[in-house]
Order: sequence, then structure tokens, then C-alpha cells
Amino acid sequence: MVDSVMKLLLTSNPDDDILTGTMVDGTVGGGGHAEAILEKLSPAGRIFCFDRDPAAISITRQRLKSDPRIQLVHDSYSEIGEYLDLGSAAGVILDLGLSSDQLEAARGFSHSQDSILDMRFDPSARINAHDVINSYSIEKLRNIFFRYGEEPLSPRIARNISNARQKGAIRTSEQLAAVIKNSVPARFEMKAVSRIFQAIRIEVNSEIELLEAGLKACWDILKDGGVLCVISYHSIEDRRMKRFIAEKVKGCVCPPKLPVCACGQKPSAQVLTSSALRPSPKEIRLNPRSRSARLRAARKIPSK
Ligand SMILES: C[S@@+](CC[C@H](N)C(=O)[O-])C[C@H]1O[C@@H](n2cnc3c(N)ncnc32)[C@H](O)[C@@H]1O
Repeated sequence: MVDSVMKLLLTSNPDDDILTGTMVDGTVGGGGHAEAILEKLSPAGRIFCFDRDPAAISITRQRLKSDPRIQLVHDSYSEIGEYLDLGSAAGVILDLGLSSDQLEAARGFSHSQDSILDMRFDPSARINAHDVINSYSIEKLRNIFFRYGEEPLSPRIARNISNARQKGAIRTSEQLAAVIKNSVPARFEMKAVSRIFQAIRIEVNSEIELLEAGLKACWDILKDGGVLCVISYHSIEDRRMKRFIAEKVKGCVCPPKLPVCACGQKPSAQVLTSSALRPSPKEIRLNPRSRSARLRAARKIPSK
């Protein structure tokens, strides 16, 4: 959805067809969005690119290394306040989820190739998929499968994982996929495996917690007129972004029963996407993984 993202980011500088000032790619991955931003960025502009995965940082370094306007940061976008001043950036893009490079690497993200169960974006993170699968209680597994995977057969899958690991740890993506497949009717196998792998990845990387903190952090470093764009691939993420924008548009957070506003918060956002933008049929044909993508954007306005 690079073209749509670029159109939205370019509205941060309405008088010209170039980007100026400080831009941020909070999830740089293979550097596709960063490269498109650099093409439109003024010579004096700069772009900060974040990723939790050091492999993504090296791929982007190789791809864009000769450009002096780029600053690569191995950290979560939720920590952006440590690197940029409040009110300093003209645009931020967050393209959530995982990259094709991560899916293809033997790191446990994919159920279609056998590998160890890791699934950490950041290899120094505390827990990995092996820990989740082999140490979480049945209740905890069931909850994350329901919540992050929206899998109706979560209780049966959680119970079967617990039974299987009593015979020895579940060590590989193939072993895990086999337990999931044996827990559901044949026609639901692929869907169930995808949903459970997604749920484990979201849990391992604390993706929802970091999104909550990250939306606020990214909003705070935007200047007035700056644009925040978020591409999400999961309904929870999309709802969080939608609610975040709605709160900024409304301003006041007082309970509706209160006769006068006591919080003093004023509207500080203008919605740029009245409903979420979706990839075109051509984009989906070229990249089938993009079919669940939803793009939402908002502009920061001065709160009066
Ligand atoms: C869909 S890919 C981004 C693809 C990128 N837009 C491109 O054009 O190649 C998502 C990336 O976000 C990274 N990521 C996920 N959570 C993150 C976080 N909290 N902070 C920084 N990067 C994160 C992942 O490691 C992955 O590289």
C-alpha cells in the first residue's frame, strides 16, 4: 500500500509534492516504505527507521546505506520518544506484523517450513515461542488463541498441546502444526494452523501492548500538521488505531454523565481515512499476504 501511504504522508506538506523535515518509518522491515519516502524527501530532510529485528536493520542498511538522510535504530517504535523530540516529526508510518524476510527465515514464523520455534522479532527478547508452547497453562494458551487468533476451537487445541508436551517438549514448527491439525476437522486445518501461529507470534512479541504504547509515543513526537499512518493486519490492531484516532478527534475524555468538561483535553486530530483503506486487487495478486491489510491515517492539528 506504498502509494496510498505516500499520498497521505505528502499531505503533511500541502504546498508541494515533496516531504520535508523529519520522517519516521517505525517498522522498516525490508525498507520498501523507507525507500519510497527517501525518493520524495527533500535533500535537507531525514528519516529515522526503527525495527526490533536486527536482521531487518542490516537488510535496510545494505539497501539504502549510501543515503546520508537515513538513521537506522534497532529498537521498538514504542521507544521513539528516546530518539526524537516531542512535536518534531512531519510523518510516521507503522506497517505492523511481520515481513516476508522473517516469514522465509528459519525462525518458526512459518508453518510451511520446519524450523525451531522461536518467533521473536528481537532475538534478545525474554520469551520465545518454545517457552509459550511448552510452559503456558492450558487456560493461558486458550486465552491467547481466542484473543489473538480468534480461533473457535482454541480449547481443544490448547488441551491437545498440553497432552502432547507431556510426552516431550514440542520443539519444531512441524510438530506444533501437526498437533493443531490433529485437533480440528480436516477442512479447517490450514486456517487453524495460521491463526494459532499468528496468536503465538503476537504473544511472544507483546505486539498489542507495544502498539498501545507506540501509538501514543508516535503521536507525541508528531508536530502540528504531521501525519500518522498505520497499516494493520489484525482486527485488534485496526480497532486500536480506529479508537485512538476517535479519541484524538473528540478530545474530551470525561464520562458522558459529567455536565461540563473537567479533563480540559481538546480535539487534536483530523481523520484522513474515513474508513480503512484496503489494498487493490492488483496488490493482492502480487502479494497475497497483503489481503488483510487495513490502512488508517490521521493528521495532528493544534488543540485550541
Ligand atoms: C510488515 S514488516 C514491514 C515491512 C516494511 N514496511 C517494508 O516496506 O519492507 C513489519 C516489521 O515490523 C517490525 N516490528 C514489529 N514490531 C515492531 C516494533 N514494536 N518496533 C519496531 N519494529 C517492529 C518487524 O520486525 C518487521 O520487520
